[in-house]
Amino acid sequence: MGKTIIISNRLPVQLQIDNGEITAIPSVGGLATGMKSVHSGGDSLWIGWSGLTDEEIPDRLAPKIDKALAKHGSSKVNLTESEIDGYYYGFSNRTIWPLFHYFLEYSEFESEYWEAYKKVNQKFADAILEKADDGDTIWVHDYQLMLVPQMVREKKPDISIGFFLHIPFPSFEIFRTLPWREEILNGLLGSDLIGFHTYDYERHFLSSVRRLLGLEVSFNDISLDDRVIKVDSFPMGIDYKKFSEAAKKHNQNKEKDKSELQKRLDTHKKSAPDAKFFLSIDRLDYSKGIAKRIYAFEYFLNKYPQYKEKVRLIVLAVPSRSNVPQYQLLKREVDELVGRINGEFSTVSWTPIWYFYRSMPFENLIDLYTSSDIAWLTPLRDGMNLVAKEYIATRTDQTGVLILSEMAGSANEMNESLLINPNNFEQIADALHTAINMPVEEQKQRNAILQKRLERYNVEKWANDFMNSLLDQKEKDYSYV
Ligand code: UDP
Ligand code: G6P
Repeated sequence: MGKTIIISNRLPVQLQIDNGEITAIPSVGGLATGMKSVHSGGDSLWIGWSGLTDEEIPDRLAPKIDKALAKHGSSKVNLTESEIDGYYYGFSNRTIWPLFHYFLEYSEFESEYWEAYKKVNQKFADAILEKADDGDTIWVHDYQLMLVPQMVREKKPDISIGFFLHIPFPSFEIFRTLPWREEILNGLLGSDLIGFHTYDYERHFLSSVRRLLGLEVSFNDISLDDRVIKVDSFPMGIDYKKFSEAAKKHNQNKEKDKSELQKRLDTHKKSAPDAKFFLSIDRLDYSKGIAKRIYAFEYFLNKYPQYKEKVRLIVLAVPSRSNVPQYQLLKREVDELVGRINGEFSTVSWTPIWYFYRSMPFENLIDLYTSSDIAWLTPLRDGMNLVAKEYIATRTDQTGVLILSEMAGSANEMNESLLINPNNFEQIADALHTAINMPVEEQKQRNAILQKRLERYNVEKWANDFMNSLLDQKEKDYSYV
């Protein structure tokens, strides 16, 4: 049995150079946080982008960079600033990301971006080919690298290749608008196994394969030349133990061990013991519906004025892709909105929204999860949404209410939460009202079921299911030849 090579745009850490020193900061986002747990447990090599462009790396630091990454079982693909502009900020995040999240009007179809995407995907494929031995397993991740499976297959026809998409696969009617739709499908079909978070994404993909490429699809098998490609859904889980144990430990902290943030949260709780904290955590991304959520909060305060001074919304918006104009516009919109609502509703003793625009270290995330009575996560579209799962995992006494958008992949597995349509303010205001008044017994009943499920379908099981299915597929595939 050979090694596993994981390939994704983001590595588990991002490197930065400060005053000539290299620092590694943990990457944010579901792919990195989830795969980190899988990677740390096994014999794998992770290939990706270091977070620094070639221009940013002085020659004298190059060997140190490789060493810093090797500490995390990682190896880098060298990318220039203009490659990052075209492939990452361009095709990945101005074409595919908006399109696959149903923001068709944000999608830009620029052939320059497409050319950069092809070039950089080839660089990733070459980096894999350089490290791969026969018998290795290649696991490619996400929408930035959809051409890689085919590019590797061309050079190593017998190697085992799995691909997992961490974002939604849109319906055929949306996908067909992409000028390079056939090339993307053919790129993915270089894999032996293609995985999605949900059955719906899988169905959309199969329908596009059938209608655009005219290939034979039988159940979830696609026949192509002398190969059979399996397509399946694998809902990604979290490192349940890591979150629940961190929460247990956190809850036993003595005063002196508490973080500054926790002390501040405690002070506010003490001054108004009946007040409820609502928690919203996302990367600052238009797909997450952050601005809409804040408008819905205003709607709620107007519909149920009895909760003024009794509730507080904590918004943690993590900076993301800030070179892309749509993200800059969103930042401005959210800043203004928070300012306006706080200006309108605040009293001497109450600020309705606490807004943090930054990423937080793990221990502060645990502070927020464990201190919030209600997690309010309402993406307009989301491949999965791991934050929803992390919140539930940290509720060690099983209290707490999750309000979750039905447009998130995780909604499929979290029926016991309060599921809402993020565009329906009436329904959201009522869900908040229900959540505030939900009896503790009911909270515990719902969370007990959720926790059991999340503990069982954790990220390790997700990775094992995917890898076992890939292994089976490869064995089956050989038997056809
Ligand atoms: N996260 C983080 N630092 C933060 C806020 C969030 O590392 O300051 C993590 C969070 O714990 C979660 C991930 O980022 O694991 C977000 O994943 P999710 O699937 O919710 O959304 P994505 O960002 O992948 O779209
Ligand atoms: C989502 C994507 C990941 C990506 C993450 C953070 O989870 O599926 O591929 O890594 O967002 O975005 P970024 O552009 O910062 O890598």
